[in-house]
Amino acid sequence: MSGNDKKADYDNNADAYRRWSVADNVYWLVEQTRYFEVLGSVRDLNILDLACGEGRISRILMRQGARSVLGTDISVEMIERAEAQNKTKDGRLVYPALRYEVVDACSETFTLDHPVDLVTAMYLFHYAPNEDALNQMCRHVSRNLKPGGRFVVYTINPECDFSRLDPDLLKKTFGFYYRVVAPPHYELVFDKLTVNMWHWGKATHEEGLERAGLTNIQWHSLCLPASHNELARSLKWYMDNPSCIVLSADKPS
Ligand SMILES: C[S@@+](CC[C@H](N)C(=O)[O-])C[C@H]1O[C@@H](n2cnc3c(N)ncnc32)[C@H](O)[C@@H]1O
Repeated sequence: MSGNDKKADYDNNADAYRRWSVADNVYWLVEQTRYFEVLGSVRDLNILDLACGEGRISRILMRQGARSVLGTDISVEMIERAEAQNKTKDGRLVYPALRYEVVDACSETFTLDHPVDLVTAMYLFHYAPNEDALNQMCRHVSRNLKPGGRFVVYTINPECDFSRLDPDLLKKTFGFYYRVVAPPHYELVFDKLTVNMWHWGKATHEEGLERAGLTNIQWHSLCLPASHNELARSLKWYMDNPSCIVLSADKPS
């Protein structure tokens, strides 16, 4: 464990997140199409998967041929669940090169012995409760990335107009919705799990990444897979004002 004294929101009702994350949900197409396209091939890469939760994405990265994945998360409960899902019934590791550790992504001390080729994060920056925390996360990414390495994060879209997102429609279509607290503070609600989140601007993200030494910062809009063109009409309301986006940056060689 790496100095984690915060109470993690996801420790409060991890089952609610679990139920949502294994449900048959059209949101997976929205969430994963652009993300994996931007990631490209992960074959033979050493990867740090921040905010890994129960390890859903880290297992996909291993299946896709990553050399190793270290998944980290602030939630003890999530890490225990991720570790359990990487074990067979007789206690062997499904992927011996997949490991997990409880780490706060704001930690300024967590430093890998061997910096990785790729840092991934499926949901992270919007859990930074203030700009200092966002900057700490950016430094955490950069410190653990080797020169020439890449960072790809799926995060809240700085340009989303939350007042145009109908909570009932979101809940019915994707199984979650957002509740306004006091912008930039919002709540993300999945069934019986409510999680605090913050809506940071484009410049705040870009300045944090640049100050941490990352370059070639690019925003990638969400898309639907070509194989599911039929969804374009029914999901137009969301694709026109998506709450999430993919962001990537490089560590110069
Ligand atoms: C929506 S879940 C996503 C989990 C996983 N990436 C996935 O896509 O299934 C967000 C995760 O971020 C974690 N998290 C929130 N704040 C964090 C922080 N400061 N450091 C590390 N993990 C954090 C939560 O504990 C939770 O497991």
